[in-house]
Amino acid sequence: MAAPLILLSLTHLLFLLPATLSQTPSAPAPGPAGPINLTAILVQGGQYSAFLRLLNQTQVLTQLPNQLNNSNQGMTLLAPTDNAFQNLPSGTLNGLSEDKKVKLVLYHVLPKYYSIEDLVSVSNPVPTQAGGSKGSLGLNFSGRANSNQVNVSSGVVDTQITNALRQQFPFAVYSVDQVLIPSEFSEAPAPESESGPSSSPPVAGKPAKAPSGAEDGDGTSPAKNGGGRTVDVGVGLVGGVVLFCMAFL
Ligand SMILES: *[C@@H]1O[C@H](CO)[C@@H](O)[C@H](O)[C@H]1NC(C)=O
Ligand SMILES: *[C@@H]1O[C@H](CO)[C@@H](O)[C@H](O)[C@H]1NC(C)=O
Ligand SMILES: *[C@@H]1O[C@H](CO)[C@@H](O)[C@H](O)[C@H]1NC(C)=O
Ligand SMILES: *[C@@H]1O[C@H](CO)[C@@H](O)[C@H](O)[C@H]1NC(C)=O
Ligand SMILES: *[C@@H]1O[C@H](CO)[C@@H](O)[C@H](O)[C@H]1NC(C)=O
Repeated sequence: MAAPLILLSLTHLLFLLPATLSQTPSAPAPGPAGPINLTAILVQGGQYSAFLRLLNQTQVLTQLPNQLNNSNQGMTLLAPTDNAFQNLPSGTLNGLSEDKKVKLVLYHVLPKYYSIEDLVSVSNPVPTQAGGSKGSLGLNFSGRANSNQVNVSSGVVDTQITNALRQQFPFAVYSVDQVLIPSEFSEAPAPESESGPSSSPPVAGKPAKAPSGAEDGDGTSPAKNGGGRTVDVGVGLVGGVVLFCMAFL
């Protein structure tokens, strides 16, 4: 009489056991993503202070976590080292309008999570968050399957992914040795000069067409402010582009 009763309560226990086991670990975890602190990732990396400053200045630092939170595809960030910024021709960053700085930063953001293995075989070009005149600006990735080595190219800059600061869905952060300048930035901004970019810089009193404003519709310009500086910025941009082009001769 007692044996079936014990059996009954034992089977009852057996059904309870898996339930309690599967419940305990999920209780303290806040969610599958968890809080991702981009600042902390880059600070820990130890050599990304220039990129962090630029992310902060362009407000991408605060926007990116929100976008990440609203995306089910995840995101990938390519983080140039301080060395990469030091190797830019001097004045490159200062020569960019606020809009172009935002575009430059967003060119380093892919609206999808890619592992290194994904990037080895991804189909090119890979869209970035940066908008161009013909849709999203792309990056080309190439790699060798067996070595996990991946190169990335903007058309004018060709560099390697050196290591992963974070590689876990939904967010990947990879270190790159060069700032990925969009090839669009080095297209001649002053079409009227026919004597070549390096021979005669434009006359300061007659500035080239203002660099911003042409592609405002992409919603990527949070750092826009007064138009009083556009002339200076235009001249600075031309100088920066000329310097930049010279670096590639
Ligand atoms: C992110 O990390 C930075 C640096 O470690 C820290 O100062 C900041 O308070 C953190 N932010 C959040 C929201 O946890
Ligand atoms: C971002 O810039 C603000 C204002 O300049 C500054 O107070 C803040 O510490 C910066 N944050 C980071 C993470 O650099
Ligand atoms: C992330 O999204 C969820 C709902 O989609 C929201 O409740 C939460 O506050 C968001 N977190 C951040 C940091 O924006
Ligand atoms: C990446 O670039 C380096 C140097 O330009 C080159 O030697 C290497 O073969 C490239 N690797 C791949 C996978 O394309
Ligand atoms: C990517 O590769 C394609 C095909 O080789 C080329 O047409 C395109 O200009 C490249 N784009 C970039 C950003 O390098």
